[in-house]
Amino acid sequence: MGDKYKVVPEDVVNHPHCQHGPTLLFARTSRNSQDPEFFYGCSACRSRKECPVWIPKDEGSLQSRKTNWSEKHFKFGLSRRTVREKILATKAKHRRYCHDCDSLFSKKDKSARTHIDHDVLVGITDEGLKEPTKFLRPKDDEKTQAQYFFTDETLRTFHRIFRKLGIRKVVCMGAPRLHEYLKIHSNGIQSYLLDIDKRFLDFYGDDEFAWYNMFNNYFFLGNRQQDEFEKFLVDTLNENVLLFVDPPFGCRSEPLTQSIKEISRTFGRLNNANQSLLPVFWIFPYYMENYVKNSMPEMEMCDYKVDYMNHNSYSSDKETSRKFGSPVRIFTNVPLKQIELPESEGYKYCSLCKRWVAAENQHCTYCRDCPSKNGQSYRHCQLCATCVKPNYVHCRSCGRCTQASGHSCAEYQAALNCWICRKRGHSERKCTAWTEILKRTGAKHGASNVRKGKRRCLICSVVGHNEKRCPQRERLLKEVTFLGQVSNIFD
Ligand SMILES: C[S@@+](CC[C@H](N)C(=O)[O-])C[C@H]1O[C@@H](n2cnc3c(N)ncnc32)[C@H](O)[C@@H]1O
Ligand SMILES: [Zn+2]
Ligand SMILES: [Zn+2]
Ligand SMILES: [Zn+2]
Ligand SMILES: [Zn+2]
Ligand SMILES: [Zn+2]
Ligand SMILES: [Zn+2]
Ligand SMILES: [Zn+2]
Ligand SMILES: [Zn+2]
Repeated sequence: MGDKYKVVPEDVVNHPHCQHGPTLLFARTSRNSQDPEFFYGCSACRSRKECPVWIPKDEGSLQSRKTNWSEKHFKFGLSRRTVREKILATKAKHRRYCHDCDSLFSKKDKSARTHIDHDVLVGITDEGLKEPTKFLRPKDDEKTQAQYFFTDETLRTFHRIFRKLGIRKVVCMGAPRLHEYLKIHSNGIQSYLLDIDKRFLDFYGDDEFAWYNMFNNYFFLGNRQQDEFEKFLVDTLNENVLLFVDPPFGCRSEPLTQSIKEISRTFGRLNNANQSLLPVFWIFPYYMENYVKNSMPEMEMCDYKVDYMNHNSYSSDKETSRKFGSPVRIFTNVPLKQIELPESEGYKYCSLCKRWVAAENQHCTYCRDCPSKNGQSYRHCQLCATCVKPNYVHCRSCGRCTQASGHSCAEYQAALNCWICRKRGHSERKCTAWTEILKRTGAKHGASNVRKGKRRCLICSVVGHNEKRCPQRERLLKEVTFLGQVSNIFD
């Protein structure tokens, strides 16, 4: 425990492979040593039990030739194609699916006897073949695949949003249920599924599915499927393609972002004149907002609460749920005012923010925003000069609103990010970096950041806003934000 792992952002083409395609280069720093240790590790599994690959960086080139995974995958792909074609030609009553072996077979197969004591589903209709997620056992390993499927209501809402946006093609990355839904229920929206779950090879041809790893942008069956996928991306008739990504929530956001960007580049290359920006919906919990924004600053969070059927904490179901509904949201580069949310579920349009917001999200005239993120109605704190969760209490010593119970000022301040210099470990009033600058310029550090019960900004001395939102920041702190990275006079 205590070790930190960072993915080194570099092209994975020359990295050694594990069974999940090219590995990622990680830098591990442990508490006892300053120098990071570099090693190649699996992109898809976070548990070494499942994929134990761990190759020191120096040995990478030796190892890469040891196992030829791509050959194995290719053979596997061919065998599943044969099975699929055979099953399509088999009568429904003879079709079987073995949950233990993860495979379709026919009662008439010579090898059918091998499944005798297995968990087998009998008689799969043509409709059944189109909706495998209705009977496949969800892979529910939190650390790898974490298959949670959308509720029908959520699927209907996505479908409605796509229609309003004029989307005619959707790439479902890690969204097999959405793929099925669009195929069956949407006239005129085509869908292509990218998923690491190879069970779908038994159900879908290359024209609608590729066995794919979203953390290294790897097509397991090589050009055979990648070329088909690229054909799908070609937008000759202004079909408005959208990339929809629903990753396992424990995943790392940087490698996923790399893949999204690579697909966007491919999209741009294939369609240079028609549509240059690829619209993206990235489904992720609201509390991961910083991760998304750090790697893709153009993404905004939409208030819609995404519901799952087989996950208690990610649903709004009154019986099982968290009190404030599902914490999962859509992050997108589509302007939020274009994403119309269902009034029947209480969503409303805020004409001041120019976007659709949740029922409980109340517009704050001080913040000029509908500030709620977590499904509760936030309230404005004059001392923080920002909106806060309703149960929070203001601590004058920390200068922040926070949970009332168990609050220790020392502990809280050690983890606090200063709203002036943005560094960790102190509050604005104790910002020595800022005091130093003031001293040098001969200006005075205002003693208090409160005046007449309201926040007084310690950067510009004006009452009514906090340092984070100070309109003078750029000028006085020479602050520049570029691709999500902030630099200023304190660096
Ligand atoms: C949270 S589920 C999303 C399912 C979606 N909610 C639906 O109803 O269609 C995550 C999906 O991502 C897939 N997945 C997990 N790891 C992946 C990877 N490395 N590359 C591609 N797909 C992956 C899983 O197989 C699963 O289908
Ligand atoms: Zn692996
Ligand atoms: Zn079996
Ligand atoms: Zn508003
Ligand atoms: Zn407010
Ligand atoms: Zn406060
Ligand atoms: Zn405190
Ligand atoms: Zn500071
Ligand atoms: Zn100010």
